[in-house]
Formats: sequence, C-alpha cells, structure tokens
Amino acid sequence: MCGIVGYIGHREAYPIVMEGLKRLEYRGYDSAGIALYDGSDIKLSKTKGKVADLEERVKEEITTEGTIGIGHTRWATHGVPNDVNSHPHYSNSGDLVIIHNGIIENYDSIKTELIKRGYVFKSDTDTEVLINLIEEVKKKQNVKLGKAVQLALNEVVGAYAIAVFDKNKPNEIVVAKLGSPLAIGIGDDEFFIASDASPFIEFTKNAIYLEDEEMAIVRRDKKIKIRKIKDDSEVNPSMQELKFNLEQIEKGGYEHFMLKEIHEQPNAIRDTYRGRLLAKEGIIRMAGIDDNIEKFLNANRIIIVACGTSWHAGLVAEYIFEDLARIPVEVEYASEFRYRNPVITEKDVVIAISQSGETADTLAAIKLAKSKGAFVFGVCNVVGSTIARETNAGAYTHAGPEIGVASTKAFTTQITVLTLIALKLAKANGSMSNSVFHHHLQELELIPEKVKEALKADEHIKKVAEIYKDAKNCLYLGRGYNFPVALEGALKLKEISYIHAEGYPAAEMKHGPIALIDEQMPVFVIATKKGHYEKVVSNIQEIKSRSGKIIGIVTTGDVDVKNVADHVIEVPETIESLTPLLTTIPLQLLSYHIAVMLEKNVDQPRNLAKSVTVE
Ligand code: G6P
Repeated sequence: MCGIVGYIGHREAYPIVMEGLKRLEYRGYDSAGIALYDGSDIKLSKTKGKVADLEERVKEEITTEGTIGIGHTRWATHGVPNDVNSHPHYSNSGDLVIIHNGIIENYDSIKTELIKRGYVFKSDTDTEVLINLIEEVKKKQNVKLGKAVQLALNEVVGAYAIAVFDKNKPNEIVVAKLGSPLAIGIGDDEFFIASDASPFIEFTKNAIYLEDEEMAIVRRDKKIKIRKIKDDSEVNPSMQELKFNLEQIEKGGYEHFMLKEIHEQPNAIRDTYRGRLLAKEGIIRMAGIDDNIEKFLNANRIIIVACGTSWHAGLVAEYIFEDLARIPVEVEYASEFRYRNPVITEKDVVIAISQSGETADTLAAIKLAKSKGAFVFGVCNVVGSTIARETNAGAYTHAGPEIGVASTKAFTTQITVLTLIALKLAKANGSMSNSVFHHHLQELELIPEKVKEALKADEHIKKVAEIYKDAKNCLYLGRGYNFPVALEGALKLKEISYIHAEGYPAAEMKHGPIALIDEQMPVFVIATKKGHYEKVVSNIQEIKSRSGKIIGIVTTGDVDVKNVADHVIEVPETIESLTPLLTTIPLQLLSYHIAVMLEKNVDQPRNLAKSVTVE
C-alpha cells in the first residue's frame, strides 16, 4: 500500500500535493516524494521518512512553483525504504516521471530485457522498471505518452495505480489502475488525482473512481478521456458525488481502522500471495526460501519466536509445518526465549514473526539465536523494519499499514506467508504428493473470496454481539489448527472490550475451565467440519449439559452443532490447514462489535501500543 496524489490545473500544485500526502499517510509512511513542473523543468525531491521530513527536504532542495505535480507516500514492497527507492522515479532520459502504488510482479524479467538495451537502474524498485518500459515503448513505437503507458501496461503482470507525466508535454497526466485504488477529482479546468478522495475533498465534490484495467488522460481545459487498457475501447466516465467527510474517507467509509482492516483481509491475503502462489503452474516462488532452501531442509527443527497476535500465527504455523512438511517446530514467546537459556544450535532455523518488525523482545530473541549460529528468517509486515534488517532472510506479508492496535489483517497474512513456506518445504522434502500440493495451492487461491463470504455474516454477528456484550467472562474453544484461533479470539476480546476471556483447547476444558461454566458463561466454540468435528461436538454437549451458552463457528450448512448451540456463525468450507484464515474472521468482528457497543476506544485501547519497543 502507498498513497499517490497529483494535480493539474491553474492553482499552485505544491500545497495541494503536499497536503494530500499528509492525508494519505495512513496508507504508508516510510518515505515520500514529490515532482513538480515549474514551466521549464521537473523539480523532484524525495526522502526516506515521513511526509513532514519531505516538507523539510523540499525547503532545502527545490523551488515549489508550478501548476502540475505528483506526490507519493510509500509503503515499501520492492527495495528497502531509502531516498533512492522513494518515488517519484525518473525514466533514464529524465523526461518522464512516475508515482506508483502496487506491485509489478514480472519486473525482474522486464528489467533484464531493459538492461540489455542499455537502461541503467538506480533503485531496487519495480516502479523504476515500469517507467523505463514506458519510455522504451514510447521511443521504439514512436507513440504519445498515453499510448506508451497503455502498451507498457499490457506487458506487465501485477497491480498498480500510477500517474505519469512528460516534461516535454506538461499539459497532461496519464493515470491507470489495476488492483490499487485511483480517484480523479474533477474541478473547473483542473483535475486532482489520488488514492482516495481525501486530498481533494475541499476543492471538488465530483469524482470518478477508475475501474480496474482503465486508464485516463487528464489535460488542462479538456474533458477527461477514459479507455480500457486491454482493448483501447472508450469508457463513459461515471461521475460520483462525494458525500463523505475527511475522516470517513481515510477510514474508507468505515467507522474505525480496525473494521476497515478486517474488511481489507481478502485483498491483503491476495496481495500477500500475489506473485508467489502460481496455482495453475503448481509453483510457489519465494526468493527468501528459494535462496536458503538447504538451510530449511537440513534443519533439525524450526523454532518460531514472536509476541502477541504474531505468536498466535506462530502456533498456527506449528500445526501447518508439522502436519504438511513433517518438520518439528517449537513456538516460543520471544520474551521467554531470550531469558531462559534455550538450547540453540547451528542446525536450527529460527522464524521470527512480527507485524511491526520492531518488537523489542522478538528482536532480542533474534540476536540471541544468531549469536548461537542459527539461521534466522523473518516474517514482517513493515518493510525495512529493524527485524527485517536483522534477520538472515525473510518474506514480507503485504498487508499494508495496520493502524488499529488490535492486529487483524497482519494475523491472516502472516498465516498466509507461513502456509506458503510450509507448502514449499513439504513439496521440496517429499512429504506431500504432487496432487495434494496442487490441491492446497488451489484452495489457498480461493481463500480471499471465502473470507469475503465470511465477512457477509457481519449483521448476524452484530446481533450475537448485542446478546453477549455484557458478559463478564468468555471462553473460547478450538482444537487442532483452530486452538490458536481460540487464543486469538480471546485476545481480541480482551484487548478492545476489556472483557476477561480465555482460549483453551476444547478437550482440555474438562481439566479446569469446565468448573467456570454456568448459564452466565458464553462459550465460543470453533467447530468446523474439517478437524476433530465429532470430538468438538462432544465437547459442546458437555458445555450444554452445564447450561453454558454456546456460540458455534461452523462450516456453512452445518446441522449437528446448530442443533445444540444457542447461535451459530457460518464460514465457508475449506481444507483443514486453511480453516484458521476463515474462522478468525467472525471472532474479529464479534470483538469489534462488542467493543463498539461498550463504547470503548476500538483503535487505541487503553494501556496497549501498536509497536512495543521496550521489553
Ligand atoms: C503489541 C500489539 C499486538 C501485537 C504484538 C506483537 O502487543 O498490540 O497487536 O501482536 O505487539 O507485535 P509485532 O509487531 O511484533 O507483531
């Protein structure tokens, strides 16, 4: 995720673009940049850091006149956050300049081709490859910028929202979209371009939201032209009247960031496997694993270290790695691991999971493991974070910035990455047959749509939340792959509604928690068809006979649990190892709605922090 913004018209572009970047900072904030056309040349300034750092840099570096400009606030995907990798990017000639939100998956092969033709690259980004591809097409085919953008985009695979302009034709900006959002604000002889409407809400209430595979050329004093990228057919612009206020737009119309992030999960999961999971070809491509496969295959065991929700993702991974790849796994709280004098050898692989990449205990655990000679692999969301840099290799989740303190999309994208790794290893060490491997890839590819389906239960979940919002204690039960989901469900409720909740393996209930059960106690039981279903149904009977209230998270069409439970919430069917990606969704929504009903501060719960950089 990144934020893009642009302006062309009769006003000074700089204040509009700069203010717009500040409003889009929630989309990414590891570096920022701006390019303006001052009437004779492009003035470009960019820096690692936040938009405020850019503002300072601009003061030192460039003049800010000009009525055409583009800006970018970055959430790094390719290339660490630094000045060079920041956007905008020039083409080799210096004539073209681009900002980009998205990922060009086949940038590597295009880059190789362009290098052969003499192109030179300063950054590690996929975006610099794209702008040079546009330049190459423009020169070779002798076409205008719009056409060159269109032809180039037909060669790329991936996702993008881009804005490009040419210093030799500074009366137009070319924009295009696939997968990433792009809104165009329509003023009087002026156009605003942005990832959402927040940068231009005070200037115009008229906007066009480009659809996927559409591009537009916006020119001063001219009507906007929209075309399909693939077949060049013209599209009739459909203008929308903006009725949102600024805050609503930043939250995408959702009341809280947490709710927005819960709903972002289908895309976040897809973004995380994009370019890695090639289901049709039966391939998983992950450079961090490919380059170090021997380390994993020769490891005595994998040790996973993490904290909080990331630790729960680690627990899910334990089930996945042992079940699918037959590799022994231990999961440790980073804070315990670092102080308990653990036995670590050079034959161990340590996987550190961290959304922020800054958690102090996880970082200390990594340093300890490295000092003992273990190979350390990171699974982080924030590109270029300390943990991402400290580890020997890694794989990023591509969840985009997570603002809500209670982690949601980070969890499901961590499980996605860990599943990809486990499948890759299972295939490589021969624990999984080809056909089972293919089946898993196909099922994983279907997960975003199934998450969407699970999200549709929102209204029903709200009604369940209303019934149980005043509970003082709650129990969460699950078995196998869904035991960690029970822990995560309980953690979500504790974190944001301050209701005491405990997660337990369903069968373990009879060794203690069963004593707590009475008619006041809601028990959330994950009882999907795959995975010890009959056993969990027996556990449910045990709760029922002690008058506990049962809320079952079940597979669509379930009958047995429905017959006994007070309420059920359905999730689509999938293979057992992938069920956590679906069963987590209703538990997130339940916690969210209960917290809202109790009027708690959902996005910033008391006493907690998004990134815990102290031990
Ligand atoms: C804090 C956050 C949690 C998070 C945990 C680990 O407690 O509130 O949401 O799971 O830290 O953070 P990390 O960034 O390492 O995943």
